[in-house]
Parts: sequence; C-alpha cells; structure tokens
Amino acid sequence: MRAVVWNAREDVEVTDVPRPDPGPGQVLVQVAYNGICGTDLHEYYGGPIFIPTEPHPLTGRCAPVVLGHEFSGTVVEVGRGVDALAVGDRITVEPTYWCGECAPCRAGKTNICTKVGFHGLSIDGGMAEYTVIDQGMAHRLPDSVSLQLGALVEPMSVAYHAARLGNVDGDGTALVFGAGPIGIGLWHALKGQGVEDVLVVEPSPVRRASIERLGAQTLDPTGVDVPGYVAERTKGLGAAAAFDAAGVKPAVEAALASLGPSKTMVSVAIYERPIETSLIQLVLREARIQGTLCYTSSDYRAVIDLMAGGHYDTTGWVESIAIGDILAEGFEALHEGRKMKVLVDPSA
Ligand SMILES: NC(=O)c1ccc[n+]([C@@H]2O[C@H](COP(=O)([O-])OP(=O)(O)OC[C@H]3O[C@@H](n4cnc5c(N)ncnc54)[C@H](O)[C@@H]3O)[C@@H](O)[C@H]2O)c1
Ligand SMILES: [Zn+2]
Ligand SMILES: [Zn+2]
Repeated sequence: MRAVVWNAREDVEVTDVPRPDPGPGQVLVQVAYNGICGTDLHEYYGGPIFIPTEPHPLTGRCAPVVLGHEFSGTVVEVGRGVDALAVGDRITVEPTYWCGECAPCRAGKTNICTKVGFHGLSIDGGMAEYTVIDQGMAHRLPDSVSLQLGALVEPMSVAYHAARLGNVDGDGTALVFGAGPIGIGLWHALKGQGVEDVLVVEPSPVRRASIERLGAQTLDPTGVDVPGYVAERTKGLGAAAAFDAAGVKPAVEAALASLGPSKTMVSVAIYERPIETSLIQLVLREARIQGTLCYTSSDYRAVIDLMAGGHYDTTGWVESIAIGDILAEGFEALHEGRKMKVLVDPSA
C-alpha cells in the first residue's frame, strides 16, 4: 500500500509499505482523508521533534514512521475480541496513546500523560491507504458528518479544548489571535459554546478574508490598536478571554493588554522561539496564562455533535490533494502560505 514515510528531516517519501494486520482488539481502517498539520511541517522542515529516535515507551516504535494523526476512514477488518466496531463503520480517530498510570492519567488528563504518544508520530499513522488502530481510539461518525469533516475532528478538538479553558461568560468578548486552522477552530468552538462576541485578530488580508466569509469579525493588528479597540467595545471591561493561536510576541502582548481583570489568556500556540515581554499587565489585572494541549474524548464527542448539527463550515479554507502530491501541493504549499488546510486522499 502507498504511504507517506518520514525517514529524517527533509526526507519524506511516498512509497510502498506492507499493509498492516489488526491484532487482538484492533481494527484495520481504510483511510479516507488525513489532514496535514503544522506539526507534520515542523517534523519535515525541523524534526525530529515528536517522532522518537529511540523506541517510544508506549508504542515501542521509532523512525522511520508513516505520518498522519488527523484522519477519518472506514473499518474494513476487525481483529479478535473487537466488540465496539464492525466492518463498514465510518470513523474518526483520536490519535493519542497514554499510559493510564501517571499522575495526569489518574486525574483523567490523558492528554498530558507524561509518556503521551501519537498515531502518526510515535507509530505508523494515517497518511497511508490503511492503518491499524486500537478499537478504543475510534469515534463513530453520524451519517450527517462527511469523511472530510471527520478528518477535521482532531484539529477542531484541539481548539474546542482550548476554548473551554478560556471560561468565557456567554456575554463576554473573546479574542482569538491567528486565523489559521486552529484560530478558525477556536472561532467555531467559542460560537458553539454560546459565546456571541468573538473577535479574530489576524494580520494577513487573505486569512482575514477567509474567516470573514464564515461570518467572523476580524481586526488587523497592523492598522488597529487592539487593546484600545477592545476596551472601547467592552466599555472598559476588557476581554473575557484571549486565545493565542499565533505564537508571536505581538500577539501575546496585545492579548495580555486586552484582558479584563482576573481573566485568562489561553496559550495554544507551540512557541517556536522564546518570547521576551513584561508581565506587568498580568500582575496589575491578576490575570492568568493557561496552557492547553490536545483534547480528551469528551472534546471529540462535543465536536462531532456540533458537526452533526451543521455547525462547522469548511467553505474556502479546506482542500484535498492526492497522496503523490504531498510534497509540492502539501508541505511546500502550506510552508509558503499558499494554502490553509490540506487533506491528503490516499486513494487518489
Ligand atoms: N496546543 C496544542 O495542542 C496544539 C495543537 C495543534 C496546533 N497547535 C499550535 O497552534 C498554533 C496555530 O496553529 P495553526 O495551524 O492555526 O497555525 P498557522 O501558522 O496556520 O496560523 C497562525 C496565524 O497567526 C497569524 N499571526 C501572525 N502574527 C500575528 C499577530 N501578531 N496577531 C495575530 N495573528 C498573527 C498568522 O498570519 C497565521 O495566520 C501553532 O503554533 C500550532 O503549532 C497547538
Ligand atoms: Zn495535528
Ligand atoms: Zn500517563
């Protein structure tokens, strides 16, 4: 079967690998779509970051690995003892592996397991015609949720989990920095959680136009004083929460300066560089910075429910490509900012 294999930094190839067999408790999934994530780009241009070079403590695997952690597909074979799934089920996959024994796992926070691993980074993933998963990693898709949407559940769950951690009151103003796929996910999630007033801050005119077409109100931080605008709009209350999905100093500074007293800036960005800034605004407002990583099963279920209700709109920001085009039309196009979200179709 064809698969996208990460061998080393800047060495990713589409090649033939053996089709895997499902073991006990596992199913074979025929992959429909697998999204390319910023993490995959980081592994390609600057990795290995999450890809293990020594056997991973939970999967026992290390590079080379088949990439792909954002995917949907159909169950085509079930292993011994599988009772939760049947051949023909349309599913999306929660790609995390956790130990179940460390302190975060015991507290139900499996997303921050001290040994956390990912399907498609710590073991062969979904950028392939087929992949094998443990049955517990699957979430069935309702008929009204397409396989394209199914491949977006993973990044949308990242944003949903982050949105929850902002604790926004329904009538407060939420500020999202960055209108990439995660920022778009935050906008959908906050609206889905009942937050009416969401402002999206984004310097790129193309990206602003893209999220505006979905109905979002945007601000251009190169032309507007964001904290001043927010203060005026909220009659001095400040933002009820700010979300950093940009990961750069101007976004962090504007977010902290826009927050209301005792409110939270949620850091979802994976910061590439250290950010040197004063935290005096944080101190003066008794504000907080809250990190967020991935999701748990309840976030997946909430996103799938919202999708079934028609809440997520992919118009204008999602496209699919054939697996053979992964480098030119996938990694390079995303790296150069020519595309926003690309789904790989392994059968094309
Ligand atoms: N915490 C997690 O679990 C998790 C999971 C997935 C992704 N991430 C991270 O989330 C971040 C967002 O992901 P993405 O795929 O949307 O990234 P992206 O690079 O597509 O989007 C970032 C956006 O920020 C914008 N930006 C730049 N400067 C800005 C500024 N001053 N103010 C506002 N916006 C600005 C960029 O123009 C861009 O549109 C990345 O850092 C990614 O690594 C985190
Ligand atoms: Zn991802
Ligand atoms: Zn654990």
